[in-house]
Amino acid sequence: MIEADKLNVVLAGFMATGKTAAGKKLACRQERCFIDTDRVVEETAGLKIRQIFEQYGESYFRERESEAIAGLSRYPAGSLVVATGGGALIREENRRRLKNNSILILLTAAPRTILYRAGKKKIRPLLEGRDTAAKIKALLEEREHYYSCCDMSIDTTGKTVLQVVREIEGKLVF
Ligand code: S3P
Repeated sequence: MIEADKLNVVLAGFMATGKTAAGKKLACRQERCFIDTDRVVEETAGLKIRQIFEQYGESYFRERESEAIAGLSRYPAGSLVVATGGGALIREENRRRLKNNSILILLTAAPRTILYRAGKKKIRPLLEGRDTAAKIKALLEEREHYYSCCDMSIDTTGKTVLQVVREIEGKLVF
């Protein structure tokens, strides 16, 4: 069990592992504020993620994402549940910032589950085009190393949002 009362809870991990859904529910149950860094980026840019990628490219998005993560330090430690975008841990500065004052929880899912869930919502520029399964496999391999910095990991395959949240709550003392 990890004492989490003075730590933000940060949910990280690949696209479509349920970070936002679990984060919202966890925040609600623990009476914390919920912040989704993708939504912060969209609000700041006044554009959807897909439009940001199309109009300005991925590196511009990564800059805005790092700014959103840096901005989390304005909130008192222990007041937040945060869902990050799937690529947030690629940058060292983000990993460092997120690990400061936070417990970092990696959500995972089987590649076929990611494929199924991602197919339901066409909002992810990095998975667009042909052979999404191959893209998922390649990106998962590429990111494995970055994701390994998390404090713990929870497999969401075949689980409901509530089950995932209860699992997180079972590992933390609030
Ligand atoms: C990305 C994941 C997305 C979003 C952007 C890039 C990634 O967030 O930040 O499309 O690089 O994995 P979700 O993980 O919430 O889909």
